[in-house]
Amino acid sequence: MTLALDGHRVLVGVGGSVAAFKACQVVTDLRREGAEVKVAMTEAATHFVTPTLLRALSGHRVASSIWEDDPAEVGHGMSHLDLASWCEVQVVVAASADLIARLALGLAGDPVTATALACRAPLLVAPAMESAMWEHPATQGHTATLTARGARIIGPVHGRLASGHESTGRMAEPDVIVSAVRDVLVGRA
Ligand SMILES: Cc1cc2nc3c(=O)[nH]c(=O)nc-3n(C[C@H](O)[C@H](O)[C@H](O)COP(=O)(O)O)c2cc1C
Repeated sequence: MTLALDGHRVLVGVGGSVAAFKACQVVTDLRREGAEVKVAMTEAATHFVTPTLLRALSGHRVASSIWEDDPAEVGHGMSHLDLASWCEVQVVVAASADLIARLALGLAGDPVTATALACRAPLLVAPAMESAMWEHPATQGHTATLTARGARIIGPVHGRLASGHESTGRMAEPDVIVSAVRDVLVGRA
């Protein structure tokens, strides 16, 4: 049976939002559709979901530091460059306000932003934050910058936030994110 994303290579970047646990579902769903998935995560993201779990779900070693600390590792030790040239699309989920700002500014101090800056593949970003952070002119400005550069922003949506409030800032559901990846790679047909 041929799956929709058979043979496609997707990089999932994970930020330090409370929605980071949903990265697990995104990775799982992408693999169910046939994609090969690798994961890069920020240090903050590791406080919410472990590299071990994302490694188990993706089937690949997870980049959680730009510094290679495994002495048995071979190669040039710059996993962000390998990931950047490997992927056909990069989707950053649980994108915090801080991570969106760094992406917009072109900073490269962590595995997600370093890979994004070195990468020519399309960039999808799924923000997740409290509504005040999302609506802040700084975040709106950074998001507009990313959009103007060709990035696709998925959500956020209106719904229940981590604070318990109902407002806009909730991350788009994993199936919507996977659908956006499918749209970029193979179209909706
Ligand atoms: C429990 C907790 C939940 C948080 N949730 C969010 C969130 O949903 N969105 C957000 O933008 N920041 C959130 N933050 C703040 C970020 O974790 C913080 O800005 C962090 O530096 C972001 O890391 P990153 O830039 O690597 O994503 C949260 C912090 C804590 C302690």
